[in-house]
Amino acid sequence: MSMRVAIGNDHAGLGLKGIIVERFTTPDRQFVDFGTNSPQPVDYPDIAAAVAGAVAGGEYDQGILICGTGIGMTITANKVPGIRAALCHDCFTATAAREHNDANILTLGERTLQPEAACSIVEAWFQAKFSGGRHSRRVDKIRELEQKYCSCLSEQK
Ligand code: RB5
Repeated sequence: MSMRVAIGNDHAGLGLKGIIVERFTTPDRQFVDFGTNSPQPVDYPDIAAAVAGAVAGGEYDQGILICGTGIGMTITANKVPGIRAALCHDCFTATAAREHNDANILTLGERTLQPEAACSIVEAWFQAKFSGGRHSRRVDKIRELEQKYCSCLSEQK
């Protein structure tokens, strides 16, 4: 079955989004574009919330979020339970994010990366798989933390 990737960006990530979708769409990998597709400024939390919610909900296998630095997208996406968003600046961190952290959203900064470097990172990301083993125990601890704090929040209501 084809991999489904949710991709989104703010105005500062628009150019890189286009490059990635064109370069990495294959018969086995489809991108669904959550916007923005205009250079008009938008608020990165709106895009990050839409993509992170769709990935956490299981409609997509993975996500990619792009803003100027990647930082705002990362902070926002990681607020959504079930999301492990990794801001990667090189191939090593992209590979490790998948193999060790089972990261499910790659975040990138268009203002911090040359397009070719960004594409190398995306390639490394797609080639890597979660290693499991001792890393599963650590990812489970992240899930436990989410459970703990999500239940705290609902008790406060
Ligand atoms: C937009 O100017 C910029 O703040 C945004 O793209 C991002 O870098 C935020 O983290």
